[in-house]
Amino acid sequence: MSHKIFDQVVDRKVSNSIKWKLYGDDVLPMWVADMDFKSPEPIIQALRDRVEHGVFGYEAPSDEMRAVVVNWLAKKYQWAIHPNDLVFLPGLVSGLNLVARAYGHMGDNVTTLTPVYPPFLSAPVNQGLTAVGCQLKRVDDGEHVRYTIDFDAFEKTITPRTHIFYLCHPHNPAGIVLSREELLKLGEICLKHDVLIISDEIHCDLMLDGNQHVPMASVSEAIGQHCVTLMAPSKTFNVPGLGFSFAVVQNKRLRERLQHAEAGIVPHVNALGITAAHTAYTQCDGWLADLQAYLTENRDVMLDYLAENMPEIKATRPAGTYLGWLDCNNTNIKGNPYDFFLKEAKVALNSGPMFGAGGEGFVRFNFGTSRSTMLEGLERMKLALDKIK
Ligand SMILES: Cc1ncc(COP(=O)(O)O)c(C=O)c1O
Repeated sequence: MSHKIFDQVVDRKVSNSIKWKLYGDDVLPMWVADMDFKSPEPIIQALRDRVEHGVFGYEAPSDEMRAVVVNWLAKKYQWAIHPNDLVFLPGLVSGLNLVARAYGHMGDNVTTLTPVYPPFLSAPVNQGLTAVGCQLKRVDDGEHVRYTIDFDAFEKTITPRTHIFYLCHPHNPAGIVLSREELLKLGEICLKHDVLIISDEIHCDLMLDGNQHVPMASVSEAIGQHCVTLMAPSKTFNVPGLGFSFAVVQNKRLRERLQHAEAGIVPHVNALGITAAHTAYTQCDGWLADLQAYLTENRDVMLDYLAENMPEIKATRPAGTYLGWLDCNNTNIKGNPYDFFLKEAKVALNSGPMFGAGGEGFVRFNFGTSRSTMLEGLERMKLALDKIK
């Protein structure tokens, strides 16, 4: 595999990167789910060519673009969808808000599995709904923090007011990749109670250890008809600033409601985003395989470093994503470890409590960066912790 391209440290402070600009110059940002790698060269070249064209009017994905997405889902996930099942969106946070608007009624409950990516908790509230979390069950294996789903507890969070379930799959921040059996179990519970499944699968291509992602909507025909899937090439190919994502909605009635809810509010996908997505899904398989291998190694290097130098911190061993979830409850840190690491280590992480119940005492660590940057972050954290031992 080719390490070289991922080992390269790119100066992102010269851009308008939110990740690199939010904190001071002395802070190493390891927070938002945004990787520090250059996108694959074919994408950069396709964008150069598109920019050379020089006209940047409104664009809509062509039939060919739809076919490219359909082929990607068939090739990667053996998931057969129709081109008309696609609804294009500029982003998935828009999508999470939009589905609450499209399918929710004032006062409804939306259930989700916590700790979870914060917009899962805020999007329902933005639309006058109530987010109700069911905590993932912690089943540590001694070495690592591990989570599983307590299916009985999940079913108990469903009340007559619950009409929507937001699934994060793969799960951010827990790094869980659910099996077909687990998906079927969750799906059957939702069907039984007539709960619509919104499955955010933005991290689906970021599989570690050669794991295989299974789309929730692909596990049965009935579940497929009861599910809205949100996906994008944005995380995978590091093009989240280019505003291109999509929903797969196989049920016509649900699709029409989504299209109705977005009318006049949701902008077109970005013209450059279409170019990037087309290239990502047709010319970048080799790059993606190398990325997955690099991220898998980064995860292992991170876990080895923690075990050796900060054994009081226990972490997940994510099966997917580039996000580590670090339990700092057994350290000497007083207060929120996010504040501690920002102030004392000059490392910006994500604060656990933002992810809802179960996030107290945790920080999220983004290892989607060059190995040297990741190790610098870990070293800064170790030095800060050593001072309070
Ligand atoms: C689960 C999940 N959904 C959505 C997003 C953001 O999507 P977008 O940038 O398309 O709004 C993220 C980014 O971290 C995420 O982790």
